[in-house]
Amino acid sequence: MKQIRALRVNSIEPKKSKASQAQQVSLENIDIEHLGRGEVLIRTEFSSLNYKDALAVTGRAPILKKLPLVPGIDVSGEVVESQSAEYSPGQKVLVTGCGLGEDQDGGYAEIVRVPATSVVPIPQGLDTRLAMILGTAGFTAALSLYRMEQNGQRPEQGPVVVTGASGGVGSLATGLLAQRGYEVIAVSGKADMSNFLMELGATKVLSPGELHLGSRPLERARYAGAIDNVGGELLAGLSRHVDLWGNIACVGLAGGSELHCSVMPMILRGVSFLGISSNNTPRPLRLKIWELLASEWKPKNLEGLVSQTLSLEQIPEAAERMLQRQSTGRSLVALQPLPLKAPGPF
Ligand SMILES: NC(=O)c1ccc[n+]([C@@H]2O[C@H](COP(=O)([O-])OP(=O)(O)OC[C@H]3O[C@@H](n4cnc5c(N)ncnc54)[C@H](OP(=O)(O)O)[C@@H]3O)[C@@H](O)[C@H]2O)c1
Repeated sequence: MKQIRALRVNSIEPKKSKASQAQQVSLENIDIEHLGRGEVLIRTEFSSLNYKDALAVTGRAPILKKLPLVPGIDVSGEVVESQSAEYSPGQKVLVTGCGLGEDQDGGYAEIVRVPATSVVPIPQGLDTRLAMILGTAGFTAALSLYRMEQNGQRPEQGPVVVTGASGGVGSLATGLLAQRGYEVIAVSGKADMSNFLMELGATKVLSPGELHLGSRPLERARYAGAIDNVGGELLAGLSRHVDLWGNIACVGLAGGSELHCSVMPMILRGVSFLGISSNNTPRPLRLKIWELLASEWKPKNLEGLVSQTLSLEQIPEAAERMLQRQSTGRSLVALQPLPLKAPGPF
């Protein structure tokens, strides 16, 4: 039986754990036969560290639906074995979301087994590395803008706010909006990220405090829409300032999952809150978004977004830093691809 290296989360006695989920994470040799079910076996080349991964690895939120489990909601690599006619060995593919690293073993392993329905062939214009610089973050940023435009959002309506702008989704959303001709107000709690965000195309970079969000049910309409990674009070406050028929893509909860706001923006200005669920995106839309990201929506300087490249061993510490708001841009996870053996079953 074939052994592979993987970062795995195991359950431990609750009293020994300081985390909210009783778990410990370790680098292990695991048997390939013990990976979850699926028709496609992928030899991992890259993965990435997303906010959700950081919650899963640290146990700060119950992301992992069963233990033991390999976290990692993203993976790209090469097909080494496939029971699906759609995929064949040697093909370069990616998976983001679809339960990976949540209810089935995920991308922090040398080999990943996945259902064929979650696999996306790497589109022309991307490779396995670029696909994971984008990863769930890029997919989510593009899905947000796609949904906003489907709902009528246009650059002529005025500036769009991006919150949590220095993070993965935030930086990709800032660049994507700018490339599509939108005026972007990047909102970041990190003063030193101003240059980075201006280089991505932001017109203005503000701290959350500099938005001066009022407290009345409706405030002066200043923004045409928003891509929000933070949730909580910031999202509620922004909604009071969005102009007629603007869209707010609700992506994240880095600042809080509660939302207390008035219905006034919706019923008097036609403002829409758009739900963004990258994990559950229907397959035709998933393929469409990846196609856009590889072609007309492809961000200009993807390599410039990589703030760190991690090995499997380095993920737990990086996850802690991410939750302490100390990371920026995209954290790529790079694996040394396992050598392929002679033809035959893997
Ligand atoms: N709905 C979906 O499908 C989907 C997909 C991907 C991600 N998400 C969610 O979107 C958010 C961003 O994900 P990500 O992977 O881009 O994470 P990330 O790289 O860590 O970015 C999150 C950003 O949010 C801001 N932030 C962090 N902690 C905060 C706090 N306590 N209060 C206010 N702002 C805070 C920081 O930006 P500044 O320091 O620049 O302000 C940080 O860079 C997360 O909540 C994640 O769970 C949702």
